[in-house]
Amino acid sequence: MTAHHKMDKADSRNRLDDMVQGLVGSPMDRPDGPLKVSGQATYAHEWDVPGMLFGVLARATISKGRVTDVASIPLIGKDGVRAVITDDRLLRRPAQGGADEAPPQGSRQVDYFGQPIALVVADTFEQARHAANILKISYEPMANAAFDPEAEDTPTDKPEDDQLDQGDLDKAMADAPFTVDQVYRTPGHNSAAMEPHCAIASWDGDKLTLRGSYQMLNFNINELADALHIVPENIRMLSPFVGGGFGSKLGISPEAVSAALAAKEIGQPVCVALSRPQVFETTMRRSETRQHVRLACGTDGVLTGLGHECLVSNLPEEEFYEPVTQATHFMYGGKNRKLGIQVARINRTCGGSVRAPGEAVGMQVLENAMDELAEEAGIDPVELRRRNVPDRHPEQDIPYSSRRFIEALDEGAKLFEWHKRNKTPGSLREGDWLVGHGMAGAARVNILSEAKARVTLCADGTAVVETDMTDIGTGTYAILTQIAGDMLGLPASKVETKLGDTDFPAGPGSGGSWGASSAGSAVFLACEEIRKKLAEQIGSEETDLALANGRAGTGESMRSFADILDGQDISAIGHIEPGKTLEEWQQATYGSYFAEVAVNAVTGETRVKRMLGVFGAGRILNEKTATSQCYGGMIWGIGSALTEELVFDDRDGHIVNHDLAEYHVPVNLDVPQIEVVLLEERDALASPIQAKGIGELGICGAAAAVTNAIYNATGIRVRDYPATLDKLL
Ligand code: MOS
Repeated sequence: MTAHHKMDKADSRNRLDDMVQGLVGSPMDRPDGPLKVSGQATYAHEWDVPGMLFGVLARATISKGRVTDVASIPLIGKDGVRAVITDDRLLRRPAQGGADEAPPQGSRQVDYFGQPIALVVADTFEQARHAANILKISYEPMANAAFDPEAEDTPTDKPEDDQLDQGDLDKAMADAPFTVDQVYRTPGHNSAAMEPHCAIASWDGDKLTLRGSYQMLNFNINELADALHIVPENIRMLSPFVGGGFGSKLGISPEAVSAALAAKEIGQPVCVALSRPQVFETTMRRSETRQHVRLACGTDGVLTGLGHECLVSNLPEEEFYEPVTQATHFMYGGKNRKLGIQVARINRTCGGSVRAPGEAVGMQVLENAMDELAEEAGIDPVELRRRNVPDRHPEQDIPYSSRRFIEALDEGAKLFEWHKRNKTPGSLREGDWLVGHGMAGAARVNILSEAKARVTLCADGTAVVETDMTDIGTGTYAILTQIAGDMLGLPASKVETKLGDTDFPAGPGSGGSWGASSAGSAVFLACEEIRKKLAEQIGSEETDLALANGRAGTGESMRSFADILDGQDISAIGHIEPGKTLEEWQQATYGSYFAEVAVNAVTGETRVKRMLGVFGAGRILNEKTATSQCYGGMIWGIGSALTEELVFDDRDGHIVNHDLAEYHVPVNLDVPQIEVVLLEERDALASPIQAKGIGELGICGAAAAVTNAIYNATGIRVRDYPATLDKLL
């Protein structure tokens, strides 16, 4: 039984609003929480696979050239070393969500420092690590590597689909009484997921089982099949628990391909775990950006022109690029527009998606520029934004679906007491500390992704939800349990959600904030089908059906499921597909950030004192997990504003700060009390459950609230992120 639904029109079924069990929306604890805190949740490296060997990657120590020899022979058979795998397929780069093909890479070709060359397999991890360290790899280096994205002789190209030239921006700039024309830079970022990448491969004939840590299993088996030149039907992938992904596990990385190749060749299971430096150097990075922003407005503060032209980087021939202008296209009005992206081709670790690719750094800079324009025009920054909310998409002339941006601005200003803020930069001092206030807008595109889930109402009165969807720390186990519980009239304790196994129906995976609304919709549709079947069995209509605490009926006569089902389970698959509503409406989530900072006048050190985020993201499925996502995003915003920065060696492009000791993510002491407010919203155009994505919204612009506050405190505009103390003295 499959219930298929395509989002071609608004879906105004509002049944989740008054469910008897009251689970959806409630701040229910994660059912997987106790397993995680008691060490019983099995992460990638913790599977006990009998006969498992260990592989460690040996990686390039040059940045461009060709491998001429890998001296494996002297190592094999000694000190537990079983094999040195140098199969060309191992050179495959980590792929990005969306592309099913292995990225191009010539045989034995080296494109960046840290690229995997071989996998050394031994009886123990320590033996493999030692052998990988002493393995001699010979190269024929090439001299024409490029490391600086902004150097004149660095090759660049412009993705055709991402160039917009509308009206005459130069003229708008020349004619406007108020303008901003500035260049901003954001550095490279690492995902820094807590769990490093790991894969354990075992073969049974031509069937491969891969236990790993990935975000999008259904897509990942296709990638792996493509890399290994086998069919995806022969692969089972398991990722029931994922210790954070943040984009770095959207695609498979070298650990998966190399483990699979080695296990096949040796005939025993092989585990490949990356060290933290390997995660930094060998999986992927967020591109650094140079962003040229031009804004023009009249005396009324209404934008007449908007320019956002960006330079990002990636390896030669890679398709992915940081989509910096993604939200700029629809966020604010302005008739004359020039938006574009240029990609510099450099020899650094592969560029890829790191949490909220596009908006995380694009909104950050756009919201800095809006702050500068507010000051130029002498208009309150909240008010300037209010005045520039377009009625229709300024480029495509399509309407917006739900958008509570103005409410988020107003509610934020009220709760933060924005009217009491410091109004003159550099004028508020408490001892050695300069205090300042700043705000920014938030926006992230909303995506619905094709998803399937199976729900079974069992004869014993319990229910099981099954999909290969993942829970990367976001709360999927909780929300799918809540949806099924409400729809089937069962308490959460009677619903078991099983995830992260490609033997289950193909879910949407966790990425781009689409996971909860997409997987949740699939579960919702499956449950609707079960309700119809139940109604049939008691001789009623689905619309008249009442379900509560494991009993069904039409009001007066409620019978237990066990009684109705009479030993027969009811199972249904829900299948959601995106449709016309995604093309005919601009769908996005919105919000606002407000921050108070103190900058030490002597040392230049910044302390965020308080921070507020107000967000509208459609139906909130679980208040606790949604709020936690927003906390995480805003904390990342603090990191982007103040500390996070990949540092590359100019001579060979290698990452200098390749671990969490040198790449600084915020720790407890860096983070103040953060307040998150979720606005009531329903979006019937977004999904049958009227939810939109919230996962990444909390970071999209967050850093700008901090740096705008730093300007307000000190009078210094930092346009080269991060705003480290040397820039504030
Ligand atoms: Mo996200 S960066 O699409 O996992």
